[in-house]
Amino acid sequence: MEFLRPFLKDLRERGLLRKLTTADAEGGRYVVIDGRRCLSFATNDYLDLAAHPQVREAAARAAEDHGVGARASRLTAGTSTLHTTLESALAAFTGYEAALLFPTGYQANIGVLSALLTRSDTVFSDKLNHASIIDGCRLSGATKQIYDTRDAEYLGHLLESHVGAGKRLVVTESVFSMDGTIAPVDRISKIARQHDAVLMLDDAHGIGVLGSNGRGVLEHFGLPAGTADIYVGTLSKALGSMGGFVAGGGDLIRYLVNRSRSFIYATGLSPACCAGALAALEILQREPERVSRLREISQYTRQSLLQAGLDVGGDETAIVPVILGDNRTTMDAATQLLADGIFAPGIRPPTVPEGRGRIRVSLSSAHTREDVDRLVESLKRTLLRSEC
Ligand SMILES: Cc1ncc(COP(=O)(O)O)c(C=O)c1O
Repeated sequence: MEFLRPFLKDLRERGLLRKLTTADAEGGRYVVIDGRRCLSFATNDYLDLAAHPQVREAAARAAEDHGVGARASRLTAGTSTLHTTLESALAAFTGYEAALLFPTGYQANIGVLSALLTRSDTVFSDKLNHASIIDGCRLSGATKQIYDTRDAEYLGHLLESHVGAGKRLVVTESVFSMDGTIAPVDRISKIARQHDAVLMLDDAHGIGVLGSNGRGVLEHFGLPAGTADIYVGTLSKALGSMGGFVAGGGDLIRYLVNRSRSFIYATGLSPACCAGALAALEILQREPERVSRLREISQYTRQSLLQAGLDVGGDETAIVPVILGDNRTTMDAATQLLADGIFAPGIRPPTVPEGRGRIRVSLSSAHTREDVDRLVESLKRTLLRSEC
């Protein structure tokens, strides 16, 4: 297909051509790449639950008992007791009346936004929001207004100047996935309420990470469950499985079951993923010390990188970006780390702004201080080399 060539050539020339890395997981913090065991700072398995024996056993038993796939869409034959049990458990965990599973978190975001909003509506979206939120806004056809988290007051002005512009929905991530910063959900929720707007929160990187019990961003700010009208989460990060979910009031969930196309026209989540996530949710609630361990090692990482003189971003989350700048420097650093047996991905535009390339370090409760020291030493060597 000739027409693809100029596109690929352009990406190659700009240092933006992406390639897949085959990284087979080995335990909580190692991966095998090209036959070499590497220390990984590249996953979202924040609480080291994806390979937990109880999670694996639950998933294996579910596959054994019910088969690997759900066999059908949820509205036909694809709803099992595992789905409904997990939905009830997620509703109880988040403190909402009901919850609905989606095959992925991506589908949850596009499915909610496109079902709730129309061209006559206005969506107020943080400029750092994840691609799944951006795509959901696009699909909905609603008019988009972008605001900057650092200037939450501006959101108030925007909302005020759009009174009468249909339904007004504010959507934000809780922890921005490439920056590791926490959205000021306390202020945003107040502003949304003052202006009678609907608030949608994507807590993908907050669940299992924020709050003393890992209940997410609302617990972090001491806010009650109903603070966000629509609460989106994923099972694919701290819960070590796969799938997304939406929690909210009963009417919201009934509406989505009837109107959300990415829910209706997709096969249900696999029984193994449901059972694995259920087991992980149980462990998270039984062992809150995993959350404090993750917090401690994330703080240690941030401090160590700062002490090494690196440009480090983010708040007290498990995502620690090390900003390096241009694409080549970023990708050379990732390659050099890999040569040292460390896997930490380089992130380039369009995922982050031009000139803000970074190594995205993500932590797990399984990481040790020795692991972090190895990473910092390797990064220091790498950057020294590139300066010479
Ligand atoms: C903030 C945010 N929302 C949603 C998603 C999508 O979740 P999933 O990987 O379960 O599709 C991601 C995943 O990268 C994310 O970072």
